[in-house]
Amino acid sequence: MSEKPKITVSVIKADIGSLAGHHVVHPDTIAAATRILAEEKSKGTIIDFYVTNAGDDLELIMTHREGVDSPKIHELAWNAFKEAAKVAKELGLYAAGQDLLSDAFSGNVRGLGPGVAEMEFVERPAEPIVIFMADKTEPGAFNLPVFRIFADPFNTAGLVIDPKLHDGFKFEVFDVFEGQSVTLSAPEEMYDLLAIIGTPARYIIRRVYRKKDNEIAAVVSVERLNLMAGKYIGKDDPVAIIRAQSGFPALGEVLEPFAFPHLVAGWMRGSHHGPLMPVPQRYAKCTRFDGPPRILGLGFQIKNGRLVGPADLFDDPAFDETRRLASRIADYMRRHGPFMPHRLGPEEMEYTTLPAVLEKLKDRFVKVVGEPKTKKPILETKMLSHHE
Ligand code: 13P
Ligand code: 13P
Ligand code: MG
Ligand code: MG
Repeated sequence: MSEKPKITVSVIKADIGSLAGHHVVHPDTIAAATRILAEEKSKGTIIDFYVTNAGDDLELIMTHREGVDSPKIHELAWNAFKEAAKVAKELGLYAAGQDLLSDAFSGNVRGLGPGVAEMEFVERPAEPIVIFMADKTEPGAFNLPVFRIFADPFNTAGLVIDPKLHDGFKFEVFDVFEGQSVTLSAPEEMYDLLAIIGTPARYIIRRVYRKKDNEIAAVVSVERLNLMAGKYIGKDDPVAIIRAQSGFPALGEVLEPFAFPHLVAGWMRGSHHGPLMPVPQRYAKCTRFDGPPRILGLGFQIKNGRLVGPADLFDDPAFDETRRLASRIADYMRRHGPFMPHRLGPEEMEYTTLPAVLEKLKDRFVKVVGEPKTKKPILETKMLSHHE
């Protein structure tokens, strides 16, 4: 066993208000959060930090030796968001304090509004990591790319040709409705895994471990703000940390799934599907119909806890075609206007007038004679096999 102390990487994010609607943070709020983290760094609470934004989400990337779920680290993140929210209120920014559900910190930011991805590990001699930050989508948006990175040999050549990856990975999947998780192993249980993670609003890949030695490989924030608050207050814009190279997928294997702009939930009012567009930092702002949903990827090396970097990973013409395709998909989806599947299903919408409309119309619905009343909505009935 290594004598080296473990390092923790914490990415904690919140939307504390934004400029001209929901599209981008204001630089003064970044400065306010930076000031708090700089003070904590000088006190030695954290080793290093980087503050940035994905659209209207303020992102705190921190390294320290306090482990995951540390009250000390969560409290300083909370204080940074509070300070930034104070500035947002002074500037009259839109939805100032949006994700801070409570006024009082109680030991852990989880459940209070911010999204959290944290992992603790012994640093390798060279420790490349990627921090992904998305806006206008939900944690389950990572299911498809994370599956492909760690389980799909057509994405990750290393699963086939690198002896260190060849045993595969384990996936801890979290059920956000029941608050329980299940761990499945790929490739053996790949079809079971896909059967559940194909429902990304409910089953979210939360952590990935290398099977051979249980080494942590990836972690995704699973906070679903709307479920916590019980009403719409933002679409749970998620973050993820993924380790790369030597025993993990290569950097290019980690980025490759994002070359396909898959459809995710969370665009416009948190109530529409749209393509996930990989963008450099300068395009990490959501203007077209408040989107389309975007993802930013920053690459760092970690050395004795120091964050070396970042590299702006999607700032590459090799992703231009993806962005163009995402724009075309955006056009196509937009032409559906208020119709599903552009608009989310009734159970997933963040804003909805449906109950009010149904209430208003309830006395105007007339029973159609001779038409049976089915007990359950047709979509919920059991699918029968052709042989039954
Ligand atoms: P290098 O030989 O440049 O380290 O690259 C290895 C690799 O895995 C690139 O995908
Ligand atoms: P955020 O969740 O990013 O604040 O977006 C709100 C929204 O619905 C914009 O259309
Ligand atoms: Mg917002
Ligand atoms: Mg957002």
